[in-house]
This record gives sequence, C-alpha cells and structure tokens, in this order.
Amino acid sequence: MADSNDNEVNNLRIVPANHAAAVDLDTIYGSETASRCRCQWFKLEKKESLGAIGGEGLRERHLRQTGCGHPDGRSTSGLVGYLDEEPVAWVAVEPRPNYPGMLRVYRVPWDGRNEDKTDPSVWAITCLYTRAGYRGRGISTRMAIAAVDFARENGAAAVEAYPITHGALSYERRVGTPATFGAAGLQEVHQPSKRRIVMRLDFGPSAADARAAKN
Ligand SMILES: CC(C)(COP(=O)(O)OP(=O)(O)OC[C@H]1O[C@@H](n2cnc3c(N)ncnc32)[C@H](O)[C@@H]1OP(=O)(O)O)[C@@H](O)C(=O)NCCC(=O)NCCS
Repeated sequence: MADSNDNEVNNLRIVPANHAAAVDLDTIYGSETASRCRCQWFKLEKKESLGAIGGEGLRERHLRQTGCGHPDGRSTSGLVGYLDEEPVAWVAVEPRPNYPGMLRVYRVPWDGRNEDKTDPSVWAITCLYTRAGYRGRGISTRMAIAAVDFARENGAAAVEAYPITHGALSYERRVGTPATFGAAGLQEVHQPSKRRIVMRLDFGPSAADARAAKN
C-alpha cells in the first residue's frame, strides 16, 4: 500500500528551470553547503575556482545558465521540482560538452572508454539536489526520471550519469545513486574506479530522427 510520502511525491510538478523563478532556486539551495557550488563545479573554466568566484558570483552564473524567469527561452541547464507551490528540488541535465570542467579535469566519464568529448548528442545528469526538509521521500528519483525524459524530448541520443556505488560523503551524494538512475532506465556500462560507475541509456534511432527533423 502506498504511504503518504508516495502520494506526495506523485504530485511533484517538474518544470524546465527556465520556467522557474530565481527565488525558487534560491529557496531550494538555502544557505546550505551547496549554495557555495550552485552546480558550477563542472562548469569551471581553466584557472577558475568556486572560492574565487564566491557565493554571489556562483548564484549569478547558475541563474543565467538556467535562464530562469524566461519561459520562452530556448535552453536551460536543469529542472526544478515543486510540491504544491513549494520549490523542493533541482536536477542538472544538459548536453555533456556544456560542462567544460568535466571535459578538462574529471576522469570518471572518460577513463577506459572511447568517448567523443565534443558530441552534444550525449547528455549528462550531473547533480541532484533536494531541499533540506524534503529528503528521503523519493524526490531525487523522480527528478532523475524527469531528467531522462527531458533529454530524450530535446533530441539526446543518449544520457549518462556517474553515480558513486558506496561510501558517498554527504556532499558527494549529489551525483546520485545507482538505484536512482536504475529507476530512470539507465544501466551500468563501465566502472572506471572502485566506487564510481558510468550509467547510460541510449535512446536509439528514434531520438536521432527527432534530432534530424529539428535541424
Ligand atoms: C542526495 C540527495 C539529492 C537525495 O535526494 P532525496 O530526494 O532525499 O533522495 P531519494 O529520497 O530519492 O533517495 C535517493 C537515495 O538517496 C538516499 N538518501 C536520501 N536521503 C538521505 C539522507 N538524508 N542520508 C543518506 N542517504 C539519503 C536514499 O536512501 C536513496 O538511496 P538509494 O537510491 O541507494 O536507495 C539529497 O539528500 C541532497 O540533496 N543532499 C544534499 C547533498 C549535498 O549536500 N550536496 C552538497 C554539494 S552540491
């Protein structure tokens, strides 16, 4: 029998982040540690650091990348989830080449694989974040499922995630768990290190057709 949390999570409304307001994203992060990242870790250019950019600079970059407050915008960098009218969760999902830091210094997606780092048809889900007070109810799993749908609807040929299999520190949990992405249809395709795996879902020829029709 479904418990009240199941019912609640079924009512989650998930929108592309450009349909959200800046204040919604600010509310989700609050003053937690994550507000000192705002999903910029994989966005850093050479010689940049989170500390040097600072909280307000990170926030400005994140809001600009999401295009929040601009529902007519053509692109965004993630999705926002609402329970009733409360903003409660964020997931980062976009074409993988949009993460310059990931392309440059992060080894997990590349080690032992022959991947084209410049291929924009491969999308990546890089961060899940649930607002304090709303955790442990299955929200991030719903966000991961929505992120996969969003990638597919926007012409991705494949979507990847890079979860930690065990021993994740609290701040590392943002990359998601294998169970979370398994529920979203991804499967393990590679294990580049002891506790990291690459999970992937290929959408097949229909996604490629949709992309070609768009261009
Ligand atoms: C990690 C996080 C995204 C999970 O979101 P959630 O909506 O609570 O997750 P769900 O209820 O869908 O559960 C997903 C998984 O997280 C685990 N989880 C959820 N809350 C947890 C908690 N408080 N402590 C430990 N694990 C937790 C669940 O057990 C589940 O694991 P499983 O997939 O192996 O079964 C969320 O707890 C979070 O945002 N944490 C803060 C991360 C952080 O501090 N980031 C800072 C750097 S940016």
